Amino acid sequence: TYVVTEACIKCKYMDCVEVCPVDCFYEGANMLVINPDECIDCGVCEPECPAEAILPDTEAEAEKWLELNREYSNVWPNITRKGVPPEDADEHKGEPGKFEKYFS
Ligand code: SF4
Ligand code: F3S
Repeated sequence: TYVVTEACIKCKYMDCVEVCPVDCFYEGANMLVINPDECIDCGVCEPECPAEAILPDTEAEAEKWLELNREYSNVWPNITRKGVPPEDADEHKGEPGKFEKYFS
Protein backbone atom coordinates (compact mmCIF):
# COMPACT_ATOMS: atom_id res chain seq x y z
CA THR A 1 0.00 0.00 0.00
CA TYR A 2 0.86 3.66 -0.26
CA VAL A 3 0.50 6.04 2.68
CA VAL A 4 0.28 9.79 3.23
CA THR A 5 3.03 11.13 5.48
CA GLU A 6 3.70 14.25 7.56
CA ALA A 7 4.59 16.38 4.53
CA CYS A 8 0.87 16.57 3.64
CA ILE A 9 -0.05 18.36 6.86
CA LYS A 10 -1.09 22.00 6.25
CA CYS A 11 -0.28 21.60 2.54
CA LYS A 12 -3.21 19.44 1.49
CA TYR A 13 -2.86 20.09 -2.23
CA MET A 14 -5.33 17.28 -3.04
CA ASP A 15 -3.87 16.51 -6.49
CA CYS A 16 -3.69 12.94 -5.23
CA VAL A 17 -7.44 12.43 -5.00
CA GLU A 18 -7.99 13.32 -8.64
CA VAL A 19 -5.91 10.43 -9.91
CA CYS A 20 -6.78 7.61 -7.50
CA PRO A 21 -8.71 4.93 -9.44
CA VAL A 22 -10.34 3.51 -6.32
CA ASP A 23 -11.11 6.74 -4.40
CA CYS A 24 -9.39 5.63 -1.23
CA PHE A 25 -8.40 9.05 0.19
CA TYR A 26 -9.99 10.39 3.38
CA GLU A 27 -9.99 13.98 4.56
CA GLY A 28 -9.05 15.47 7.90
CA ALA A 29 -8.90 19.20 8.65
CA ASN A 30 -5.19 19.54 7.80
CA MET A 31 -4.25 16.28 6.08
CA LEU A 32 -5.47 13.44 3.91
CA VAL A 33 -4.86 9.76 4.53
CA ILE A 34 -5.13 6.62 2.40
CA ASN A 35 -7.15 3.59 3.44
CA PRO A 36 -4.46 0.90 3.18
CA ASP A 37 -7.05 -1.85 2.77
CA GLU A 38 -8.61 -0.15 -0.26
CA CYS A 39 -5.39 1.07 -1.95
CA ILE A 40 -4.52 -1.18 -4.90
CA ASP A 41 -0.86 -0.11 -4.93
CA CYS A 42 -1.03 1.43 -8.40
CA GLY A 43 1.39 4.22 -7.45
CA VAL A 44 -0.12 6.92 -9.65
CA CYS A 45 -0.73 9.31 -6.74
CA GLU A 46 2.90 9.39 -5.59
CA PRO A 47 4.34 11.67 -8.33
CA GLU A 48 1.24 13.91 -8.29
CA CYS A 49 1.84 15.27 -4.78
CA PRO A 50 3.70 18.63 -4.87
CA ALA A 51 4.75 18.07 -1.24
CA GLU A 52 6.12 14.57 -1.91
CA ALA A 53 3.98 13.34 0.96
CA ILE A 54 2.94 10.00 -0.54
CA LEU A 55 5.23 7.01 -0.18
CA PRO A 56 4.99 3.23 -0.52
CA ASP A 57 4.91 1.65 2.93
CA THR A 58 7.96 -0.39 2.00
CA GLU A 59 10.04 2.73 2.63
CA ALA A 60 11.33 3.08 6.18
CA GLU A 61 10.10 6.67 6.43
CA ALA A 62 6.54 5.58 5.55
CA GLU A 63 6.20 2.68 7.93
CA LYS A 64 5.32 4.74 10.98
CA TRP A 65 2.46 6.42 9.07
CA LEU A 66 0.71 3.20 8.12
CA GLU A 67 -1.29 2.77 11.30
CA LEU A 68 -2.29 6.44 11.34
CA ASN A 69 -3.55 6.13 7.75
CA ARG A 70 -5.52 3.03 8.67
CA GLU A 71 -6.98 4.54 11.83
CA TYR A 72 -8.08 7.88 10.42
CA SER A 73 -9.34 6.51 7.09
CA ASN A 74 -11.94 4.74 9.20
CA VAL A 75 -12.94 8.00 10.92
CA TRP A 76 -12.62 10.80 8.37
CA PRO A 77 -14.94 11.24 5.34
CA ASN A 78 -14.03 10.00 1.89
CA ILE A 79 -12.79 12.64 -0.61
CA THR A 80 -12.94 12.11 -4.36
CA ARG A 81 -12.55 15.60 -5.86
CA LYS A 82 -9.85 18.18 -5.40
CA GLY A 83 -10.99 21.13 -3.28
CA VAL A 84 -9.22 24.44 -2.71
CA PRO A 85 -5.84 23.98 -0.99
CA PRO A 86 -5.05 26.21 2.02
CA GLU A 87 -3.86 29.70 1.05
CA ASP A 88 -0.62 29.22 2.97
CA ALA A 89 0.05 25.70 1.67
CA ASP A 90 3.36 26.64 0.05
CA GLU A 91 4.63 28.20 3.29
CA HIS A 92 4.22 24.87 5.06
CA LYS A 93 5.92 22.83 2.34
CA GLY A 94 8.91 21.03 3.78
CA GLU A 95 8.40 22.46 7.27
CA PRO A 96 9.65 20.07 9.99
CA GLY A 97 7.63 18.99 13.03
CA LYS A 98 4.24 19.52 11.43
CA PHE A 99 2.64 16.52 13.11
CA GLU A 100 3.21 17.86 16.61
CA LYS A 101 2.12 21.37 15.67
CA TYR A 102 -0.87 20.88 13.46
CA PHE A 103 -2.11 17.32 13.10
CA SER A 104 -5.88 17.17 12.74
FE1 SF4 B 1 -5.02 5.34 -4.93
FE2 SF4 B 1 -3.15 4.09 -6.36
FE3 SF4 B 1 -2.45 6.00 -4.64
FE4 SF4 B 1 -3.32 3.66 -3.74
S1 SF4 B 1 -1.43 4.02 -4.90
S2 SF4 B 1 -3.91 5.68 -2.99
S3 SF4 B 1 -4.85 3.13 -5.28
S4 SF4 B 1 -3.68 6.26 -6.49
FE1 F3S C 1 -1.55 15.88 0.73
FE2 F3S C 1 -0.08 15.73 -1.37
FE3 F3S C 1 -2.48 14.84 -1.50
S1 F3S C 1 -0.13 17.41 0.06
S2 F3S C 1 -3.57 16.14 -0.07
S3 F3S C 1 -0.88 14.04 -0.22
S4 F3S C 1 -1.42 15.95 -3.08
